[in-house]
Amino acid sequence: MCGIFGLVLRKGRVAPMILDGLSRLEYRGYDSIGVAVINNGVLQIRKDAGKIKDVASRLRIAEMKGSIGFGHTRWATHGAPNMINAHPHTDSKGKIAVIHNGVIENFMELKQELIDKGHNFISKTDTEVIPNLIDEEMKSDIGITEATLKALRRLKGSYAVVVLSSLEPDKIVCARQESPLVLGVSENGTYCASDAPAIRPYTNKVIYLRNGELATIDVNGYKIIKVADGSAVERTPEEITWVLEMAEKQEYPNYMLKEIFEQPTSLRTGLRLQEKYVDLLTMFLDRGKEVFLVSAGTSQHSCIAASYIFSKIARLTTYPVVSSEFTEQYGSTVGIDSIILAVSQSGETYDTLKAVDHARMRAATVLGLTNTVGSTLTRVSRAYIIQQSGPEIGVAATKTFTSQVLVLAQLAMRLAKLRGKLSQDELDEYKESLYKVPDIVESVLKETYDKVKDIATREKNSRLFLFLGRGISSATAMEGRLKLLEITYIPSLAYPAGESKHGPISIVEKDTACVFICPRGDTHAEIIGSIMEMKARGAKIISICEKGDTDIKSLSDEVIEMPKNIPELLSPIPYIVPMQLLAYEIAVLKGLDPDKPRNLAKSVTVP
Ligand code: AGP
Repeated sequence: MCGIFGLVLRKGRVAPMILDGLSRLEYRGYDSIGVAVINNGVLQIRKDAGKIKDVASRLRIAEMKGSIGFGHTRWATHGAPNMINAHPHTDSKGKIAVIHNGVIENFMELKQELIDKGHNFISKTDTEVIPNLIDEEMKSDIGITEATLKALRRLKGSYAVVVLSSLEPDKIVCARQESPLVLGVSENGTYCASDAPAIRPYTNKVIYLRNGELATIDVNGYKIIKVADGSAVERTPEEITWVLEMAEKQEYPNYMLKEIFEQPTSLRTGLRLQEKYVDLLTMFLDRGKEVFLVSAGTSQHSCIAASYIFSKIARLTTYPVVSSEFTEQYGSTVGIDSIILAVSQSGETYDTLKAVDHARMRAATVLGLTNTVGSTLTRVSRAYIIQQSGPEIGVAATKTFTSQVLVLAQLAMRLAKLRGKLSQDELDEYKESLYKVPDIVESVLKETYDKVKDIATREKNSRLFLFLGRGISSATAMEGRLKLLEITYIPSLAYPAGESKHGPISIVEKDTACVFICPRGDTHAEIIGSIMEMKARGAKIISICEKGDTDIKSLSDEVIEMPKNIPELLSPIPYIVPMQLLAYEIAVLKGLDPDKPRNLAKSVTVP
């Protein structure tokens, strides 16, 4: 999970643009940064541990001269975050610089082979073998592109790699295997980066590199070839439709709050899916003997919510499975009649892609739901849907959760229609409710935020939070808990409320904060019982319930009131919003950065 940004210009200094590009990629990793440029044929590198703005000013990176170069923000996987391990890394002679995102699994054997051939290593990283492999290949008097190609063929593992050399100072070579890399073209130059928002200020014409492809970029553009056999690949640029401000903070203090408040917009675009893809996925879901919903983190909570929706309105049994457990749990039974619906905002989550690879090997049909055009998931899926939430920069998923549930609900409704499980009136009713969701979320944001701020002020020092719900609200509870846990670091639990008496209730003490999700519907009576069992033990009851729900309000210490008549099966979308805001407010009150929680990265592209 590192950030990569490189470019070559017809005119102008690249260093300030590299720093700008890296700042848009900081969410991908921010424990160290490095920049390399070539000026008058000389390769110059400045790098250190620390955040971009601190290292940039300390090393005066913006002053570096040269119209070709690249930069890297690191998220350590091998070797501690320090100057030596920061990227770029070079060969022993300092002529070839490389930055890399991914994990080279066979780097130890390669490193030993290179040491035996006289190469010196100074870092603990896996990346450092790459420039030395290229240097070794160049001894056969071949150019940097071919040498890089040969070096990459020796690697096992994942990489987005970018190469810069004073031996051929007019070009950049880059390639990808699993880790994302996108090119950009403009009048004044050519770019490569880990994702499109870093390039967007300079062009809206992008080219998504695919696994096993290598590109050579220079002031005239790009050439793509296949790593495997060097064959040429023709690919015309795509135009990015969203505008840059969608990836910038606008008037918000950070990305997370912006993205929480963006949800009415992202939900409206989520209602404008491409019909042919909805129909295609529905057809596959209908045919499957068994359907696995494979995902991680927040995406897993969307899938758990979706399992209730698919079952109740389409009569389809689905198995939500944590990506990292899929192969162990179902790897021996998944087969040609299985449907895998992989849900991943980034489309690059290692665990999810690994599960998908296994399922494909077993001849299962893989479908994808992602937010990222050009991601690996879109290429390994038989068919996929883009949820169209726009870029999500904050590490904590917010708008992408609500969009995922919205899209999955639409698939369930389309399937219910295909299977004749709902009458036309029922379908019309669900569709009408679905189209009201963005406005409902808009009113929730307006009407509950002040109350949430009050609760956050009173509860910010709670030592333990429980998030509890029944039915589909147990998924909402799990997502509310993950938000609080990942950005405030407060210990918290979430599980289906009926489980309390099977163990978790032992942890409840006086003033333990218990957040209950209580929409009207099939589980309303049962959640009252769950509230009472916690109240009896002195817990602080914080309830999210429908306006005027006197049964719940009479049992609660704090109440967040929601609009009336939200169908229970769609309730995760509006009911998660107060919990997103609660987590955000407590994090800010505790002086934490909600965009960059410790130990986490936006996209987990390594095992
Ligand atoms: C959620 O807030 C986290 N960012 C994390 O759990 C995330 O949902 C998970 O890593 C899955 O990411 P994906 O949807 O891109 O696959």
